[in-house]
Amino acid sequence: MDIVGVLAVAFWAMLPAYVPNNAAVLVGGGPPIDGGRTWNGRRLLGDGKTWLGTAGGIVAGAALALGLNTIHSTVSDAVAGLPEFTLVAAITLPAGALLGDIGASFLKRRTGRERGAAFPGLDQLDFVVGSLGLTVVLAPGWFFETFTLPVLAVVLVITPVLHVGTNLVAYMLSLKSEPW
Ligand code: CTP
Ligand code: MG
Repeated sequence: MDIVGVLAVAFWAMLPAYVPNNAAVLVGGGPPIDGGRTWNGRRLLGDGKTWLGTAGGIVAGAALALGLNTIHSTVSDAVAGLPEFTLVAAITLPAGALLGDIGASFLKRRTGRERGAAFPGLDQLDFVVGSLGLTVVLAPGWFFETFTLPVLAVVLVITPVLHVGTNLVAYMLSLKSEPW
């Protein structure tokens, strides 16, 4: 597969993992997952991780994956090799992304960072690690068929770039209070 094909597969396969964080920004709010609980005087996760944002993000990512399945045969005429999403992968990609993000908030609070503080590196990769991690465990067959080594390499390069870019746009549109 040429580099354009690899890029297309990487982007297509990761779209259901890219959308949930942004969807969570839009629908988030209400009771936080940690219920306000603290550990050693600091919030377990913080007010930035809510049930509504998490559920909305998973639904948005899974709906997107199933939506991509419906246009798969049409798009495949132009770009070969794009995967169809199994139902499990359609759920683990967004759910894992948000789990990674929640894990990052847990680490941020343990290291004394307030809600919204940046943690360079972790901010850009938490959701990739969560998404790929949950998917390789729960949908290993689909994972290894889709994420060949070149595709994985491209995912690790384009994801931080896209993440920084979309967050900057969300910040400029006043959807997010920080540009990261
Ligand atoms: N959000 C949510 N539930 C999630 C993830 C995000 O409700 N599981 C919403 C929250 O409104 C959050 C916003 O999306 O404030 C931005 O997400 P993020 O940058 O991950 O949270 P922060 O507020 O920056 O908090 P943290 O420092 O814990 O990352
Ligand atoms: Mg943040």
